[in-house]
Amino acid sequence: MEKRDLNWSEIGFAYRETNQRYVSNFIDGAWDEGGLTSDATVVLNECAGILQYCQEVFEGLKAYTTVNGDIVTFRPDLNAERMMDSAKRMEMPPFPKERFLEAVEQVVKANADWVPPYGSGASLYIRPYMFASTPVIGVKPADGYQFRVFCTPVGPYFKGGAKPLTICVSDFDRAAPHGTGHIKAGLNYAMSLHAHVTAHAQGFDENMFLDPGTRTYVEETGGANFLFVTKDNEIVTPKSDSILPSITRRSMLYVAEHYLGMKVTQRQVRLDEVKDFAECGLCGTAAVISPVGKVVDHGKEICFPSGMDAMGPVIQKLYDTLTGIQLGTVEAPEGWIHKIC
Ligand code: PLP
Ligand code: COI
Repeated sequence: MEKRDLNWSEIGFAYRETNQRYVSNFIDGAWDEGGLTSDATVVLNECAGILQYCQEVFEGLKAYTTVNGDIVTFRPDLNAERMMDSAKRMEMPPFPKERFLEAVEQVVKANADWVPPYGSGASLYIRPYMFASTPVIGVKPADGYQFRVFCTPVGPYFKGGAKPLTICVSDFDRAAPHGTGHIKAGLNYAMSLHAHVTAHAQGFDENMFLDPGTRTYVEETGGANFLFVTKDNEIVTPKSDSILPSITRRSMLYVAEHYLGMKVTQRQVRLDEVKDFAECGLCGTAAVISPVGKVVDHGKEICFPSGMDAMGPVIQKLYDTLTGIQLGTVEAPEGWIHKIC
């Protein structure tokens, strides 16, 4: 199969329309058979639940070409499970796990020419999502839903790739106590856009959101979890009920403990202890692990000893091991790599 003729190292993190996407509709209380379509447009009633009350959830995962030339996905079962949790919290009918995995597989196979080659640094980003598709005018869940999966080839999420980021402590919250911060619902991202634009206008790459209840503890950014390295070479990640349970972060913790022999702790992290860490990174499917060089808290700069030129040594090791697992150069734990073709 001939690959698309793209300059893979320059594609950035952007949407490109690819060959086929998967669609299934929830009608009369059941998901229909579903299948692939070449139609990238969605036509909806003007009063569809997604348009009025933002009833939507989504996922993000990637397909890679491994060193052997296989096309694989990374822990797609965890995305399927998280999407079911998100749907339940949004009063939507969960899309069954086996069908989610099958839909992802069909989409990747149908777009194999868009999966970036091994060694390009790019990957195929896969976006499963589901929304209320039938009309609702009173505030209540809709009766009908659409589940879709499309994919698009992507490069690094942050411009500059592995260059350390500068982030600011946000004055805005991305989640509410007892709200929806722990699920992947589009409304959380809509809510973070003003903070995102404000941070960018001030020259920052991202926000550090604090816990919305007390504004004392570190939560996450708009699209990734935090991971810190202590001066004693231990890994610490924030524990909170209002952050997304990142699959990358959970995998990094396993890699740190079982591959690198490091101590890992999940606990509340106070903003005022961030200055004591040696390294900081943002982890997520899109971000992989992106190093943070500096956090700015209302003019007060916290500069990590790892500096602004390159990833710190521990984050580099985590990055190399995790991407090695994804690309087939490091042996993966049982069940992490799902071969598609
Ligand atoms: N936190 C937020 C708010 C996200 O949007 C994402 C991206 O999915 C993550 C964390 C990282 O999660 P994952 O590693 O599962 O992609
Ligand atoms: C992902 O990493 O998959 C996300 O959904 C983050 C998003 C901000 C691109």
